[in-house]
Amino acid sequence: SVESKICILGGPGVGKSALVVRFLTKRFIWEYDPTLDDESVVMEILDTAGQEWSIHREGHVRWADGFVLVYAINDRHSFEEVSSIKQCLDEVKKTNVQCVLVGNKIDLLHEVNVPTSEGERLASDWACAFFETSASDGGEDISELFHELHREIRRR
Ligand code: GTP
Ligand code: MG
Repeated sequence: SVESKICILGGPGVGKSALVVRFLTKRFIWEYDPTLDDESVVMEILDTAGQEWSIHREGHVRWADGFVLVYAINDRHSFEEVSSIKQCLDEVKKTNVQCVLVGNKIDLLHEVNVPTSEGERLASDWACAFFETSASDGGEDISELFHELHREIRRR
């Protein structure tokens, strides 16, 4: 099987745990599908706590093959946080790390603080994939973001 180690990072309360729970319950309970692109896949997923990022960063960076960087579209500060996290990852790893950028909580349309275009622009600066998700509504895009990162990791 093909393994990837994926670390979820982002500010407090942006929905990191909710996204991981969505992905895992869908994958393993509702739509069990152990293959991706005809390969058997094992993803190890490390869900981190937003408040403890700085304490563990060296360890996370060393452990992970790729990162899911999450902000909430109703929380501008969380958007700034992912930028500084990414900068920090690149510094520690001394290269442009593999990641996907995720704007979560798109169900909160009336509270949008970070427009889609800004997320797209940041992802384009990083040359990475961009997803907008709702962990509360679910949806295919949540599985897709994990699969996309896995593929990117395999490609390198
Ligand atoms: P830390 O582990 O403390 O860093 O937070 P986290 O990023 O893991 O956030 P968590 O998944 O615990 O979600 C925080 C709060 O946001 C909870 O009340 C969730 O129910 C809520 N939440 C998470 N995702 C969404 C979403 O897509 N939409 C809405 N409306 N609420 C969400
Ligand atoms: Mg959490």
